Amino acid sequence: MTMQERTTDLLVVGSGVAGCAAALAGARAGADVTLATKATRPEESTSYWAQGGVAVTRGDPEAFRADILEAADGAADPEAVDVLVDSADEAVEDVFVETLGVEFDGDDIPDYGREAAHSEARILHVDASTGKHVLAPFLNHLADHDAVEILEDTAALELLTHEGRVHGAMLERDGEWAPCFAGATVLATGGIGACYGRSTNPETATGDGIAMAALAGADLEDMEYVQFHPTAFAGEAPRASKRSGEAAERGEADGDGQGTFLLSEAVRGEGALLRNRDDERFMPEYHADAELAPRDVVARAVEAERDRTGEVYLDVGPLDFEAEFPDLTAECEKRGVDPTEGIPVAPAEHFLCGGIDVDTEGRASLDRLFAVGECARTGVHGANRLASTSLLEALVWGLRAGEAAGGFEAEKIETPELLDRDPTLPEGFAEEKSVRLRRVMDEYVGIERTPEDLGRAQAVLRRLKGEVDAYTRTRTSRSLYELRGTCVTALLVARAAAEQEESRGCHHLVEEPTADAD
Ligand code: SIN
Repeated sequence: MTMQERTTDLLVVGSGVAGCAAALAGARAGADVTLATKATRPEESTSYWAQGGVAVTRGDPEAFRADILEAADGAADPEAVDVLVDSADEAVEDVFVETLGVEFDGDDIPDYGREAAHSEARILHVDASTGKHVLAPFLNHLADHDAVEILEDTAALELLTHEGRVHGAMLERDGEWAPCFAGATVLATGGIGACYGRSTNPETATGDGIAMAALAGADLEDMEYVQFHPTAFAGEAPRASKRSGEAAERGEADGDGQGTFLLSEAVRGEGALLRNRDDERFMPEYHADAELAPRDVVARAVEAERDRTGEVYLDVGPLDFEAEFPDLTAECEKRGVDPTEGIPVAPAEHFLCGGIDVDTEGRASLDRLFAVGECARTGVHGANRLASTSLLEALVWGLRAGEAAGGFEAEKIETPELLDRDPTLPEGFAEEKSVRLRRVMDEYVGIERTPEDLGRAQAVLRRLKGEVDAYTRTRTSRSLYELRGTCVTALLVARAAAEQEESRGCHHLVEEPTADAD
């Protein structure tokens, strides 16, 4: 299908829970909505991959609020936290339960799950694959909605701006592009996993929305707070620990993030323990809450114990793992790992707590631009996000932004000319650049950082961005724009981290410089 110029009241870019919620609320507010997603299947979205669930108040908003603020290490915005907590139960009931008919685990009383840094069990879930049980019906619902048009396999390349106002975006499909003029534009493009070698995000998380907004002049905030999940599958079966030598022979080693999947915090919430290669349980030495300490603390401890002893594994002996987590059991088995022998884990990039700076209705600093979900910085997460608040934030801010953005009329403006003098890139160009970028981010802008490393990272990333920019000046292709997105985003993270003089939450400074990456 050829790409044609279009106009719409509300353009939503991204089809995770945040984008879907914005589209739903926009349609409810009377707007005609265009939802553009570069995904061709719903599973190409971080929301779809979300495991743990959706936190609700269980009638005790004060406790929920206190847990969010505590996990955020003093950097959350209390007003934003109030909005999240005060809207949580109603939004979940309205959209997930009544509109989409999601059946969370549990009969008359929900089977509330517990995760790290939550003072009580308050998480609604469907097995450990909540995201897919929420997102699939959400997309189906919108596909049937008269006021919503979903454009699949359609990427946004650039925002259309004039005198500080955003008028839509240049959309691309099958190598053709055309402007989509919109009364308001909501970015819901997700995270930045593609900036790191190991991430729990899908490959499509290339930071597009953050880069587009930054290039258009929008304000960003808290970009240094990149959250690493402590227990992503480590890519290898347990090796020569004191446990079964046979288990060592199984599994598909990859070590570079391929095949990584998340072992939800819910597993530790149900009693799983973390042990090092010497089979020692180490978390009590790092934090009074042991395995249920805040995520940044556990991630650093797992990293330290892997460095010290060579391996960390999740001991699921204290629970009936197969019965409680059938989906995760199947994932382990696919990789030849018997969970009862211990599941090897390592930290992996998981969530960006910062992003496009927005107010409590998702409004960014540019007129008629909104951002929701992981690409946005609402202030809820501060320096470290509390588990199972991301789908909730996506839902709450998606609804608020969609409603606020739904009342504007599109206006046509002159659009930038995107050039395509030579559609071919040198062989291996994108691959080589993104491997280099990921190495720099892993080595210099990871869980532990030093001022020297952050300086080096910026120097290398600036060079990389310059090389990519030289091509985007004369060529237009989705992969090139995605690469530019990761370069811009990585540089923003490195720069923000370098400006931060103290450790806080996910931004952890150490004295010792780490290894050379370039
Ligand atoms: C998990 O299930 O551990 C992830 C949940 C989250 O990131 O909030």
